[in-house]
Amino acid sequence: MTWFASPADVTTRLGAEGYLADAATATTAYLAGALEKPLLVEGPAGVGKTELAKAVARAAGAELVRLQCYEGLDEARALYEWNYKKQLLRIQAGAAAGEGDRDWSATHDDIFTEEFLLTRPLLTAIRRDDPTVLLVDEVDKTDVEVEGLLLEVLSDFQVTVPELGTVVATRRPFVVLTSNATRELSEAVKRRCLYLHLDYPTTEREREIVASQVPDLDERVVGQLVATVARLRELDLRKAPSIAESVDWARTLVALEIRDLDEEVVDATLGVVLKHVADHRRAAKELKLARTR
Ligand SMILES: Nc1ncnc2c1ncn2[C@@H]1O[C@H](COP(=O)(O)OP(=O)(O)OP(=O)(O)O)[C@@H](O)[C@H]1O
Ligand SMILES: [Mg+2]
Repeated sequence: MTWFASPADVTTRLGAEGYLADAATATTAYLAGALEKPLLVEGPAGVGKTELAKAVARAAGAELVRLQCYEGLDEARALYEWNYKKQLLRIQAGAAAGEGDRDWSATHDDIFTEEFLLTRPLLTAIRRDDPTVLLVDEVDKTDVEVEGLLLEVLSDFQVTVPELGTVVATRRPFVVLTSNATRELSEAVKRRCLYLHLDYPTTEREREIVASQVPDLDERVVGQLVATVARLRELDLRKAPSIAESVDWARTLVALEIRDLDEEVVDATLGVVLKHVADHRRAAKELKLARTR
């Protein structure tokens, strides 16, 4: 399937879904669709990595299949699992019905079939006939072994279930992997993907994002907010504010009916943007806030 007609088409259609892509994002997303290659998106927290996959799914009218990665994620959660309980019940039912003397291979053929298979996200995405976006989210959170599982899917768009054979995708999903780069991914995974580094946006783009997501906030306040966030990002903070925090801050200011983002307001609402005590102290000092608390 053709996912997008051109990078400009990506920009327009993601824009219509509320995702404002910069030139690099639009080009890479276009190529991922055109070349049918997985897209690895890396960057700090809250810059729109996960949202990119969701926006592609919405824009293309595709279903999003998500594999959330975490430490300890295994094959049974990522690919598939046999429904042991149901298999056991089937064997017991067979025995009760007098099939007890059936040979093992007949029973085996009976219980390792589709009916007893629990499909997990990777296999689900490969088997779908309709357009699918497969999001493998926060892949750096898994153990390295899981990357081995991913390789077959990423390079050949297939999954092998020993008892059933190899399942090859009839329609290749649009694959997005995201990573916070807490650890290096294997070269083998990287080689199979297109790479996009997402970073904090320019102030103009961030202004557009905030204005489009929180249209009720006064244009001038949006400008003040984005400028303040940019200043905060220049400080050496433990956790710099992301786009997600800018949007939250904008919503907070609307809720408080703020018309001017002065020092007092910044001081009172800083908790929406900075989540560490040390960062609050540093920001107060650098922004010269007269802290009252
Ligand atoms: N280009 C963009 N256009 C519109 N909204 C955006 C954009 N980038 C980020 N956002 C907003 O920022 C929020 C956070 O983005 P998202 O959850 O995708 O971050 P992330 O990069 O996946 O972060 P994490 O690493 O913490 O998972 C989104 O819900 C969205 O509101
Ligand atoms: Mg995310």
